[in-house]
Amino acid sequence: MEPKLVFAVLLLISVAVSAEYVRPPPRKTLDFPWSEKPSSHPQQVHISLAGDNRMRISWVTDDKSAHSTVEYGTSPGKYSAKSRGESTSYKYLFYSSGKIHHTIIGPLEPNTVYFYRCGGQGVEYQLKTPPDQFPITFAVAGDLGQTGWTESTLDHIDQCKYDVHLLPGDLSYADYMQHRWDTFGELVEPLASSRPWMVTQGNHEKESIPLLVDGFASYNSRWKMPYEESESSSNLYYSFEVAGAHIVMLGSYADYDEYSDQYHWLKADLAKVDRAKTPWLLVLLHVPWYNSNKAHQGEGDDMKAAMEPLLYDAKVDLVLAGHVHAYERSSFLNAWLFDLQKRVHNGNSDPCGPVYITIGDGGNKEGLASKYIDPQPKWSAFREASFGHGEIQIVNSTHAFWSWHRNDDDEPVRSDSIWINSLVSSGCLSEQKFGARKSLL
Ligand SMILES: *[C@@H]1O[C@H](CO)[C@@H](O)[C@H](O)[C@H]1NC(C)=O
Ligand SMILES: [Fe+2]
Repeated sequence: MEPKLVFAVLLLISVAVSAEYVRPPPRKTLDFPWSEKPSSHPQQVHISLAGDNRMRISWVTDDKSAHSTVEYGTSPGKYSAKSRGESTSYKYLFYSSGKIHHTIIGPLEPNTVYFYRCGGQGVEYQLKTPPDQFPITFAVAGDLGQTGWTESTLDHIDQCKYDVHLLPGDLSYADYMQHRWDTFGELVEPLASSRPWMVTQGNHEKESIPLLVDGFASYNSRWKMPYEESESSSNLYYSFEVAGAHIVMLGSYADYDEYSDQYHWLKADLAKVDRAKTPWLLVLLHVPWYNSNKAHQGEGDDMKAAMEPLLYDAKVDLVLAGHVHAYERSSFLNAWLFDLQKRVHNGNSDPCGPVYITIGDGGNKEGLASKYIDPQPKWSAFREASFGHGEIQIVNSTHAFWSWHRNDDDEPVRSDSIWINSLVSSGCLSEQKFGARKSLL
């Protein structure tokens, strides 16, 4: 027999016998050839939602005199509109960044393909705007890095039909090597230039050096999010709305106690949510509050103690975290009371608490976190240390389908899934908070 065939047969037998996925080791950081583009041409193009049907286009040029303009339109090569934006740059020890451009375009039509060109130079890009009503699909992957596994995860996300990418922290794993932010920008460009990437920060974004460099210098310059648009004073926490979902991006590495700016901002932001307009309320943050992996155990406890009551009062449907390089999910359908979904609040089962998911398994160089606390806590319904990504399809105001896709020897394999009922449809919101409820259902 061919060696390949023997291997395949052995693999099949081992899978059949053990029914346990054998996790491959971490993969090396990718080598990138240095960008060959002319210095005025755009590099590292990525887009993000900027509120009011607008999109922020971000890119880098080596040429400091390149313009921050974006021409765009709905047919290739024909641009009906033009926007002028702003630019920034930063220094980090001996490294000087290129010119980092941020230009807002729109208002744009929902669910529409636009063609655009940055600074009047280089190739044409295209993007698709998200729909303005259900259904909408989000891809979710945290702790990405830039290894062979990252490539595999990105490839799987590219194969799924999604509208917006949500990233709960730890992007490039540049870890002080600033040119690695540039290679990360190039690696994700094919995806991030065509669908909005909404990110929040992780510990790897901090990169502060006492007395020399402030934290988040690179992250804040390159990955500008709509914080001003959501009345936040920091790029480390903000919110946005898309197709019936209000999504809050929290900062695990910004102050969060009850005297902090973030706490006050969160309280005010949650108070503004109109569940008639956005029946789904999602939160992303880096450090999980519910985690039964031995890695980073207890790290989220202080933030949880400060902010969990706010999320519970606001009836948040789903909380997505990263940081732990594995997959874990709370919540399951109670076998006896099959119409009641078990969720968690304050460590206990609570039908009106959020569903918690840890999805820090994007594929970075540090590898997987495979040691778990035993026995598995009651709130934990599924846990596995494998690389992969998640998808949330919000079908309508009452139902969303969550699935987790493991990178099984480079094939995406759906390994966990669950229907999530919105808390709006579960009788968890009081009438005064949700006057229009009946008309929706
Ligand atoms: C929402 O979607 C679910 C799942 O497809 C379906 O069972 C339900 O009837 C839908 N509800 C409404 C109000 O359309
Ligand atoms: Fe992390």
